[in-house]
Amino acid sequence: MSLEHHLIQSSFDKAAKQYEKHAVLQRESLIRLIERLSDDLKTSPQQVLDLGCGTGWAVPELLKLYPDTQIIAADFAQSMVNLVPKHPNVTPRVTDAHAIDVHVQSMDLVFSNLMIQWCDESTVLQEIKRALKPGGLMHLTTMGEHTLHELKLAWQDIDDRPHVNEFVPAAKLADLTMNLGYEDVIADSEFITMTYASVIDMMRDLKNIGAHNVDNNRSKGLTSPKVIKQLTKNFEEFRTEDGLYPATYELVYLRAKKPNDDKGLPLKIK
Ligand SMILES: C[S@@+](CC[C@H](N)C(=O)[O-])C[C@H]1O[C@@H](n2cnc3c(N)ncnc32)[C@H](O)[C@@H]1O
Repeated sequence: MSLEHHLIQSSFDKAAKQYEKHAVLQRESLIRLIERLSDDLKTSPQQVLDLGCGTGWAVPELLKLYPDTQIIAADFAQSMVNLVPKHPNVTPRVTDAHAIDVHVQSMDLVFSNLMIQWCDESTVLQEIKRALKPGGLMHLTTMGEHTLHELKLAWQDIDDRPHVNEFVPAAKLADLTMNLGYEDVIADSEFITMTYASVIDMMRDLKNIGAHNVDNNRSKGLTSPKVIKQLTKNFEEFRTEDGLYPATYELVYLRAKKPNDDKGLPLKIK
């Protein structure tokens, strides 16, 4: 998928103020990721990087788990970073995940909720590894290949353009992570279905959370009432018993460790 980097950035910049109001799925994913982290890492990490921190929603949750930890809350959208909660242990930072502005081998934990799907995964995973201390952990969530499959199917007989981003399958992400030299890699996924009163509500929600399609070949125009009518018709087969319109997300969890003996030597990519 060809990602338009600046477009994603400005889209999140614009969405910052409204983000928490609309990001129901992101909140759910965040809480689930925190639960997994708390099961996995019982001792407090000294240095944590929350990569693609958005408004800093994870900050209070991370501090609840690890009250003495130091957190760098990093995002490339300045308006998001402006909203990170103020706390003596927290350093907000504007930085791109493709070239993370932190010291090499300085992090015990890199945490990232629903950011990497906007990025070149390989570059970001290498950057995370560079930022981690030997033995450091990465815990992240992303979207899987089956995300928004109802919407994809509903668009199918309307036009040939992509309307839903293409996401990397969980198994492929795990392979990539292992090939980059991480160990103890675990990737698994679960489905979360959100329901909406109408297709318009669904589309608006995707836009408000900065999650609309960013593929180069996407349609650049507004969706016309005629198309919305057709989409709504195509969605009939998916409607729930309550008559609602579902949007199913495949939430992928990726957990991996930087080997204890990895001192940051050049990578051997297989
Ligand atoms: C869906 S939001 C998730 C925000 C936050 N992690 C949460 O759980 O609420 C994705 C965030 O990733 C950020 N992001 C996307 N691409 C990025 C990149 N290349 N570098 C840094 N941040 C990025 C966006 O600006 C946005 O704030």
